Amino acid sequence: MAAELIDRPVNSKYLESCDIPFEEKKAGSFIMVIFGGAGDLSRRKLLPTLYHLFKDKRLIDDFYIIGFGKPDLSDNEYRVIVNDAVKEFLNDDYDKKIIDDFLSHILYLSADLLNPEDYRLLCGKINELKKIFKNKDFNLIYYMAVQPGIVSDIINILDELKLCKDILRSKIILEKPFGIDKVSAIKLNDNILNAFDEKQIYRIDHYLGKDTVLNILFFRFANSIFEPLWNRRYIDHIQITVSEDIGIEHRGKFYEQAGVVRDIVQNHIMQLIALVACEPPVGFEADLIRDEIVKVLRTLRIMDAEYMKNNVVMGQYGRGNVNGNEVCGYREEKDVSQKSIVPTYFAARIFIDNWRWAQVPFYIRTGKRLAKRITEIYVQYKQPPLKLFGRLCDPMEPNALIITVQPDENILLRMSVKYPGIYNHPYTVNMDFNYEKSFGIKSIPAYTRLIMDCIKGDLTLFARQDAVEAMWSFVDPINKWWENLPHKISDSPNYDAGTWGPADASELMLRDGRKWRFED
Ligand code: BG6
Repeated sequence: MAAELIDRPVNSKYLESCDIPFEEKKAGSFIMVIFGGAGDLSRRKLLPTLYHLFKDKRLIDDFYIIGFGKPDLSDNEYRVIVNDAVKEFLNDDYDKKIIDDFLSHILYLSADLLNPEDYRLLCGKINELKKIFKNKDFNLIYYMAVQPGIVSDIINILDELKLCKDILRSKIILEKPFGIDKVSAIKLNDNILNAFDEKQIYRIDHYLGKDTVLNILFFRFANSIFEPLWNRRYIDHIQITVSEDIGIEHRGKFYEQAGVVRDIVQNHIMQLIALVACEPPVGFEADLIRDEIVKVLRTLRIMDAEYMKNNVVMGQYGRGNVNGNEVCGYREEKDVSQKSIVPTYFAARIFIDNWRWAQVPFYIRTGKRLAKRITEIYVQYKQPPLKLFGRLCDPMEPNALIITVQPDENILLRMSVKYPGIYNHPYTVNMDFNYEKSFGIKSIPAYTRLIMDCIKGDLTLFARQDAVEAMWSFVDPINKWWENLPHKISDSPNYDAGTWGPADASELMLRDGRKWRFED
């Protein structure tokens, strides 16, 4: 939708006309083929999400889901897996009657995903189901819930069998990581583009499906009072924290290859920076928003080795205590080398070289096994130019806007007021908005939104290839720098599980006369 000028009075008639008709909310008919249908991602996220959409006022009802994967399972055996997954990962939402109905839409085909011969059955099944949908337009969605290494091979087979471009409304959903660096991301993409057009490709970064992440755009551009102050004239610095208390959770093999920079910085943190720093889009259409995202990513200042020496801190967790439980160090995790130098913590002071943000430091940090789980954007404004109130020693906190993305979804504005009484003391107070308290509901899980958008054909919240490449351009030098450092085995671990990370990260802030919002 292109942007409209707001010139209408807000009266009840206008609001009524804005009610979204139920049919518009509903997804169209679809067949979803889940590659790796019995795998971890399918069980934890996809199948429970699809059930949730089905249960929630039947937002989907005209559909088939085909689990496609290695385990040799009958339809019924697969349905038991789906049933158990929904029960385990959506327990509050589980309803025996509804699940039986949902399961009647579920099929399974067992296959060696790298053997084209095994795809004949899939072609037959798709053709059979197409007949059930008769003339209705339906979406054919391929969900790649498999390890990234085999995605290209699967796509080649789909292409050979003419199951991609030639099929009406076919779409492919890919999970991160999109390559392991810029070169491999381009190669992977070239391969995908042989089979699909960019408009058919849905690259999931589940952070973009979080209501509170999308709310960054709403907050900035649905209000007129914040945007004029959202720039280098008023903002002192911004902190972005993606802190996790969990470890690597049985994903040792993956994590040893990825490390924190590929796992979180290259995607989730980059998306948060882009939404906080982008210019207003000229409308709320996918490419208009994605244009702004890529523009800001391209202005991230690339860091060289000399700069990184003093402005990047990486680390790895050792044993410690998280939320009252003793936990092992990274090197003791399953499938992790005892000499691993893979980082589980990253912090940096970075800059965006454009007109709006020149000279404003963005401090970003993320890590596993930190003191608590929180994703937060902290915007600190400059101090007022003169101290008119109180004595010199009276504290006067600068204004700050704190957007808590999770777990307590919140927006807080910090300001100074007069403390009651006969003295002239300034005092810091908060204005607070909390999602759950205000709306009485938690925001919806990220996958729910993203899967609905894909079925409906809305690409807004999916990463575009040029953005993926811009993100790699920024993080590739970081990985290269880290890999080329003369590491000593004894350098790691350098922070205890359950703390706020390596001491050097606090130094990074102290040097600038600042401090992290949370630290030990
Ligand atoms: C994933 C990472 O993309 O995001 C995980 O691979 C991480 O390592 C997860 O734990 C965090 O997601 P969320 O939604 O819990 O913040």
